[in-house]
Amino acid sequence: MKNVHVSLLDWFKQYGRHGLAWRKTDDIYAIFLSEVMLQQTQASRVAEYYYPHFLQKYPTLKHFARASLDEILSDWSGLGYYSRARNLHKALNLCKKTGLPQTMEALQKLPGVGRYTASAVCSFALNQKVAVIDTNIKRVLKRYFAQMNDKEILKEAEIFLNQDTPKEHNLALMDLGSLLCTSKNPRCPKCPLMLTCKGINEPEIYTSKQKIQYEKLDIFLGICLVNKKLALVKSSEKLYKGLFVLPEVEPLEENFIASFKHSYTKYRLSVFLYTTDYAPQNASYFTYEELLQAPISSMIKKAVSFLDF
Ligand code: ADE
Repeated sequence: MKNVHVSLLDWFKQYGRHGLAWRKTDDIYAIFLSEVMLQQTQASRVAEYYYPHFLQKYPTLKHFARASLDEILSDWSGLGYYSRARNLHKALNLCKKTGLPQTMEALQKLPGVGRYTASAVCSFALNQKVAVIDTNIKRVLKRYFAQMNDKEILKEAEIFLNQDTPKEHNLALMDLGSLLCTSKNPRCPKCPLMLTCKGINEPEIYTSKQKIQYEKLDIFLGICLVNKKLALVKSSEKLYKGLFVLPEVEPLEENFIASFKHSYTKYRLSVFLYTTDYAPQNASYFTYEELLQAPISSMIKKAVSFLDF
């Protein structure tokens, strides 16, 4: 195994993504924050705005925990999968006195933290000897061991872990999956694991094609403007829970304003906007300037762009 480890680390030293901001710190809070953001979101989007913005505004766990959930949600606005922000806020509040836990077991007890996030924190912040398996690493290991079974992959990953440099080993596998061992057209001739890879002759059979079942949904939203303020209600629905959304209305043709398409998680939404004189009793009213700071989703921002106020 020694030769493979050396060749993997040499490749990583030369080609790894060392510039990523969350790789330049060992602050457990910053790393935890980055890993939650990186779930389901491309590294470039996190790196460009959200990660630096959050760290500047909430430089420590205590700053984050002290903020209201509304404030966190409005800073998270546009990043999607808002349950991540709600869980993060809950998790950091739970450990604001003690600091983040430092074991796989304790981390996984926090809301929203699964095996991957716990292992990433233990490896990247604490340099513990744990195997990290994200989607990229899983694809690399499936091919390398010609193995499709998740439990077996975990066992193999633990045996394969480089005990001397576990953190660099995990990061190297992550970058290998992202840069060379891609699902389509893997660049095997350039791979540092090529000589011992069991899947080299048929890399495509180890690519799990998770076909996402998209759901089409039509939604009809009401625009109620009172004194140049827009009526929004706080959602209690799972998808946008805690965020301000437009109230749903009956679609009346004579009140139609505009329609647009919006993709969100597995949903392909067709959104139809209608003027309405009636807002729900529990509505809150926002001026245009207030909307810029409010916890609203990209979909609501898009809807607002059709309005003239
Ligand atoms: N470096 C550390 N964690 C990462 C992640 N989840 N995605 C990309 N690069 C990372």
